[in-house]
Amino acid sequence: MRPFHTIIEPFRIKSVEAVKFTTRAERAAALEAARHNVFLLKGDDVLIDLLTDSGTGAMSSAQWGALMQGDETYAGSRSFYRFEQAVRDLTGFAHIIPTHQGRAAERILFHTVVKPGDVVPNNNHFDTTRANIEVEDAEARDLVVAEGRQPSLVRPFKGNIDVDALDQLLARDGASVPLVMVTVTNNSGGGQPVSLANLRAVRAICDRYRKPFFLDACRFAENAWFIKQREDGQHDRSPRDIAREMFRLADGCTMSAKKDGLANIGGFLAMNSDEWAEKCRTLLILTEGFPTYGGLAGYDLEAIARGLEEVVEEPYLKYRIRSTEYLGEKVAAAGVPIIQPPGGHAIYIDARAMLPHVAPLEYPGIALVNALYVEAGVRGVEIGSVMFGLQPDGSEKAAAMDLVRLAIPRRVYTQSHIDYVAEAVIAVAERRDAIRGYRIRSAPRVLRHFTAEFEPL
Ligand code: F0G
Repeated sequence: MRPFHTIIEPFRIKSVEAVKFTTRAERAAALEAARHNVFLLKGDDVLIDLLTDSGTGAMSSAQWGALMQGDETYAGSRSFYRFEQAVRDLTGFAHIIPTHQGRAAERILFHTVVKPGDVVPNNNHFDTTRANIEVEDAEARDLVVAEGRQPSLVRPFKGNIDVDALDQLLARDGASVPLVMVTVTNNSGGGQPVSLANLRAVRAICDRYRKPFFLDACRFAENAWFIKQREDGQHDRSPRDIAREMFRLADGCTMSAKKDGLANIGGFLAMNSDEWAEKCRTLLILTEGFPTYGGLAGYDLEAIARGLEEVVEEPYLKYRIRSTEYLGEKVAAAGVPIIQPPGGHAIYIDARAMLPHVAPLEYPGIALVNALYVEAGVRGVEIGSVMFGLQPDGSEKAAAMDLVRLAIPRRVYTQSHIDYVAEAVIAVAERRDAIRGYRIRSAPRVLRHFTAEFEPL
């Protein structure tokens, strides 16, 4: 028997949504009207939207069917118990607190356990995670391994946290560290995975210093797949089994179900501590809702419960990770510098390397995102000096990297869409010398990338 090499989408399409084609002139005008910030574009003016993989996935027919089973009872909804069971089977945590999305879980956790002057270590904090710590007048400290900061270096687990640095931090300033976090996969660092060995080492350090260890688990299934592929002794385990071990090494997690929950909205906060859970539920009732719905409809809870089962299926993860890698291989083969190896949910173009004539504080990431939109109607996102450059004291500093992320929504685009994206990126790369930087005309003090207005230089 001859084995097949083509990895196909493990689904067929039951319902389609038309995309709108625009001319280059229309896109240039739309970008101008959006003050050169693609966050301010109308979605209809985007042909292929790679802004985020968050909440943009396609649900399965089983999930749509589950929506009709949603129980909208205010307190004690049947859908909550189904959701709680699905999350508990996967994570093993004692307390499962639904929230309307990941940042609500972050806000509730950090507002409850972080004091002014505290330090929260992580491999890399995502922007909302960082902002929810800084708003408590605490510090969000990134401790990713050194190889995680070298875009072109190919290593299997570039999302790992530097365990020596973590140990030193806890030895020196342990009293000001309320908890240790690790983000799987490491979104701000290129969608790179964290190994089981690294998670086990963090567990051991946290035991030694008696610190709670929380996962930012948004992309836990993609991380589990990378462990299966890349870590010694893990090949024969199911992704679900690996994911269960990842969660059992931790004391709790924050989760955005908009990623590996395969849902359009939702999230949760989960933990073993009775004391923290009681305080978190009090804040939940104040800002999100009663503990058996937490800002979600009963049907959302159903969709997440089902999504958490589908996301660890092997045919899905094999297709998912391969389709991201496929885009990475195509653009890298044409000489476009990307974070290597390709991440789980996205390709990250190294905009600083691609546009060396644009200084970091002239925002090469914004320049590239905007050029790609005008060229082809493809929308990516800057992860660089606009997103991370503004310091809590109001000064500005270049971020460690200036990246453009092309995030791939789950189960939405086919291989020909991805081929088109690769063609667009390569076309922009060919005329890179003509691309100019930007200056900020106005921007808010917190999470400025969402609403900043730019001017071309
Ligand atoms: N943590 C990580 C690692 C994330 O990637 C996100 C969201 C969050 C937390 C917050 O979750 O959006 O449900 O409130 N990331 C999206 C993105 C927005 O585009 O990467 P949320």
